[in-house]
Amino acid sequence: MSYKDKVYVEDLAKHIDQEVELNGWVYNKRGKGKLQFILLRDGTGTAQCVVIKGNLSDEMFEEAKSLTQESSIKVKGKVVANEKAPGGYELDTSNIEIYQISKDYPITPKEHGDSFLIEHRHLWLRSSRQHAIMRVRAAIQKAIRDFFDNSGFKLMDSPMFTPNACEGTSTLFETEYFDLGKAFLSQSGQLYAEATAMSLGRVYTFGPAFRAEKSKTRKHLTEFWMVEPEMAFFDLEDNMQLAEDLTVYIVKYVLDNCQKDLETLERDITKLEKITGNFPRLSYTEAVKWLNDNDIPLIKKIDGEDVEIRPFPWGEDFGAPQEEALMEQFDQPCFIYDYPADIKAFYMKRDPENNKVVKAMDMLGPEKAGELIGGSQREDDIELLEARIKHEELDMDDFQWYLDLRKYGSVPHSGFGMGLERTVKWITGAKHIRECIPFPRMIHRIIP
Ligand code: 4AD
Ligand code: MG
Repeated sequence: MSYKDKVYVEDLAKHIDQEVELNGWVYNKRGKGKLQFILLRDGTGTAQCVVIKGNLSDEMFEEAKSLTQESSIKVKGKVVANEKAPGGYELDTSNIEIYQISKDYPITPKEHGDSFLIEHRHLWLRSSRQHAIMRVRAAIQKAIRDFFDNSGFKLMDSPMFTPNACEGTSTLFETEYFDLGKAFLSQSGQLYAEATAMSLGRVYTFGPAFRAEKSKTRKHLTEFWMVEPEMAFFDLEDNMQLAEDLTVYIVKYVLDNCQKDLETLERDITKLEKITGNFPRLSYTEAVKWLNDNDIPLIKKIDGEDVEIRPFPWGEDFGAPQEEALMEQFDQPCFIYDYPADIKAFYMKRDPENNKVVKAMDMLGPEKAGELIGGSQREDDIELLEARIKHEELDMDDFQWYLDLRKYGSVPHSGFGMGLERTVKWITGAKHIRECIPFPRMIHRIIP
């Protein structure tokens, strides 16, 4: 038998009234006397296997009765349509083979504390909620790749070892690099994406980014995945439109392809169905004015702490309290653009009409999702860029190659980064970002 002939729970509808074999793990078992129900999960779904004494040998029936949670088995039986069974089909079991009996599986159907679960992340991934979040994550990754691959973009991987900082020096992870001194783990593939965009026009990098973030919030990881498109001849307006189109595409893809997972997660999909485009846009200055002038509550509770959101001075960066207050008025993501230069990265393009402002944008998500996307038009004037590098006290030598991009055919160009786990958290409604990546890396966690 070829591996292609293997049957999975998600294929059962195609095999009604046929004898099939399923391989998987015992998710749950109940029953009494002559009747046992084994809930088998195989990664694609769960199916109920009905085991009736007499339909298999007595010895096998006794073995079935003694199966424990997460024991691994092969089940043979006829597929029967049954509306009442989870998934709509069940297996009329005729044979069971045991791969291994699991003893004392630590995660039981009872409630466990957060720290217990995260310590057992390698097993927690098998739970139905985590399984559903991981499937949605994979769907979002596919949607992202499809979106770019189908609109003229080329995937260009950026290096993880870098000689310099992209998003500021305060959150760099350092490592020794042979005789060449220190290297840093990449905070963003952007600078390299700019170089490849000058070769291929429209590119995207999709990979991990590393930030030695001291923030212990529900939205920060020290290792997260980011997709970063970079486009020659795009201005900030084009950049925001692309970010919006990507976001609408992802949400629609998940709604179309992950109904079951969203159901498992009890996600209110009416909220996601509202993500259809025409996202509101506010300049930073308008957003500050709105925060100061509106009669919104002064105090916001963020991660259990009271924070004052007003008065808010022009020139400061928004924190989660301001972002959440601003977003309460919107059902869709919102762009904030034209930020003060002093709070943004060195590479962002100065507004030719107002040198206190850069052509930057953030996309904030609804439902307290926070910042999902950060991006900008890039500084294409070599003198202004050199001045910014000096001002930030970065080492000019490290950036010579990057400055070359402004020497040899400099063009207006733009790009952005979308945080994958933030997007997964928003779309799945997960309560913490650590549930949105298979193995989260946080300040106090590197195992498992
Ligand atoms: O706003 P950021 O720092 O932008 C950049 O890195 C740019 N170089 C991107 C670009 O223009 N090519 O990060 C982009 C996004 C954020 O909006 C957020 O979604 C996510 O990356 N992000 C994080 N996600 C999880 N944990 C962290 N510590 C994150 N830091 C940023
Ligand atoms: Mg940002």
